[in-house]
Amino acid sequence: MRMAILELLRASADHYLSGEEIALKLNVSRTAVWKHIKELKNQGYEIESLPRNGYKLLGSPDRLLPELVCRGLDNKVIGCQMEHFDDIGSTNAEAKVFARQGAADGTVIVSESQNTGRGRLDRSFFCPQGGIWFSVILRPDFLPQEAPKCTLMAAVAVTEAMRDFGLDAGIKWPNDILYQGKKLTGILTEMSAEIDRINYVIIGIGINAVIAPESFPEDIKDKAGSMSMFLGKFDRISFFRAVLQHLETLYISVKKQGFGSVLKSWRDLSVTLGQDVKVIGINETFTGRAVDIAEDGGLMVDTGRETCKVYAGDVSIRTK
Ligand code: BTN
Repeated sequence: MRMAILELLRASADHYLSGEEIALKLNVSRTAVWKHIKELKNQGYEIESLPRNGYKLLGSPDRLLPELVCRGLDNKVIGCQMEHFDDIGSTNAEAKVFARQGAADGTVIVSESQNTGRGRLDRSFFCPQGGIWFSVILRPDFLPQEAPKCTLMAAVAVTEAMRDFGLDAGIKWPNDILYQGKKLTGILTEMSAEIDRINYVIIGIGINAVIAPESFPEDIKDKAGSMSMFLGKFDRISFFRAVLQHLETLYISVKKQGFGSVLKSWRDLSVTLGQDVKVIGINETFTGRAVDIAEDGGLMVDTGRETCKVYAGDVSIRTK
């Protein structure tokens, strides 16, 4: 009902709509209309109420509410189910709960902030208001060993969306999105699987969207950046919608034809390939030139003596 009222208010944005008109159109009492309007105001919708004239919608909240994000989004899988939180520990942790309860392929869990946001290698991740912190539950029917490539798919989706918004960002293997050397996005992919079957994959994506540079903690402030630092003010909701659109296109193509086109796009968008890199792996540290990404998602590094394939760890680009 709230959504129906909202649609009516949107459709009559240039004039007031009386409580009586709304009640008649939706076949509810005026008191019910009043209660829903009050609830919409609590959610952050700016609605002017004039005793003799009725109601007029003046503005929508800057919150990643499903009804705002999904307006005009024609996805069939990604984001068709969406849960929104104002604050949460970690959307990845919450997504696991939803996944275990049977949440559908493509379900999105999004939060305005996270108080125990998690990064790769069990690190914490800074997730204040103004960012876009979300997790996508996937239930693909490919084999578990393919799952790490979901990280590459997500990185391509976010980078393409950033480019749509005029930010010429690139991907640092495997999961960081950078612009002018500043990290704008991190991705953490987790999975539950049997030997030959994926139960679910969770892709957690953290985008530093509208965050003031001075608010980054001391230990990351040299490396981290936000989209707003470069773009100024922009519409976080439309951007999130664009990311979900790109993710949908890529996921549908992966389901039909495998990861070939994701790998191709990843290579095109990479800032790692062709660079001298330092690899801090689980057991060893070495340097070399990043020459390619393998079919299985591993980074191929030519050390001069041999070509190694890297699956995990930190890869930093060496400046000459
Ligand atoms: C990294 O760069 O180390 C990965 C960071 C991933 C952060 C995102 S924010 C949404 C989701 N929930 C989490 O707790 N982590 C991921």
